[in-house]
Amino acid sequence: MSLMDELKKLQQDANDALAKATSEETLEAWRIKFLGTKGAVKGIMQRLKEVAADQKAAAGKTANEVKNTLQAKFKAAQNSHASATRPAPAAIDVTLPGDKPTIGHTHVITQTINEMCDIFGRMGFDVAYGPEVEDEHHNFIALNIPASHPARDPLDNFYIDDDTMLRSQTSTVQIRVMEANEPPIRVISPGRVYRPDTVDATHSFMFHQVEGLYVDENVTMADLKTCLNEFCTAYFGHAVPTRFRPSFFPFTEPSAEMDALFEYDDGSSKWVEMLGCGMVDPNVLADVGYDTEKYTGFAFGMGVERLVMRKYNIPDIRQLYAADVRFLHQF
Ligand code: DAH
Repeated sequence: MSLMDELKKLQQDANDALAKATSEETLEAWRIKFLGTKGAVKGIMQRLKEVAADQKAAAGKTANEVKNTLQAKFKAAQNSHASATRPAPAAIDVTLPGDKPTIGHTHVITQTINEMCDIFGRMGFDVAYGPEVEDEHHNFIALNIPASHPARDPLDNFYIDDDTMLRSQTSTVQIRVMEANEPPIRVISPGRVYRPDTVDATHSFMFHQVEGLYVDENVTMADLKTCLNEFCTAYFGHAVPTRFRPSFFPFTEPSAEMDALFEYDDGSSKWVEMLGCGMVDPNVLADVGYDTEKYTGFAFGMGVERLVMRKYNIPDIRQLYAADVRFLHQF
């Protein structure tokens, strides 16, 4: 057999053997047998010198081609073995619903203020805002709170200078709205208020109030009670018994505090103070230039945190300010 024929046969044998080499071990055995340093290809290469001079070039070329071809085939076989034994990547089920990105939402206090604006909005109340940095005139004087009143004690307020302070109540906005408008007036005013209280489970140096004011001809205490009862029913989602206790606020006469009756799972019930209210004191109406013979009005003010804590059974006001997403995402 000529060397050329031997090369052809070698190529054929190597191909056949490679087709059967399917494991890592048999592949390696094949490599050693055909391409190894003492392998068949090397053996034939060494015998090229025996070839007649005029055929040497052709034989050498063919030998090189056989060697290159076998090397390439070996690489390919190795690769396909590796990819066959590699664990298949997990199939992607494109019909599965995707993971929703977590997005934030408004704070429960903001949600509650928005809900209150909605409820009172349905009763015809507009929303008015006032500044958090106020003067004594709007925070006290125009609200009929005399200089001697304990609420004006510098230790009970955040004064900025002699005449300027962080507002301690949203009643300030009553005055601002009346100064700028003639009756009829029907507004609520939500916002932050500030008092230097020691922080505990029910107190904070900053909290939120919603103030309400209705001034028109023939406004009576009956309107006030109806309005607040309607609000409680809408806010708590069911009728809540309420009672109005006589109280005192300098800017209302008569004044009252409204309690609501809450029933507990164990069958007990308790009256809980909800808000302050009353008929706007004629002094306050006269001070903004309203005709007190013609107009009467009612006003109320309530703490938003207290309403939130009641509705969701939150025992500690500090949870509302802690910015703990485990708490907040529940709302
Ligand atoms: N401003 C009062 C407070 O902060 C709440 C209040 C009571 C507001 C009676 C009113 C009202 O408008 O009529 O305690």
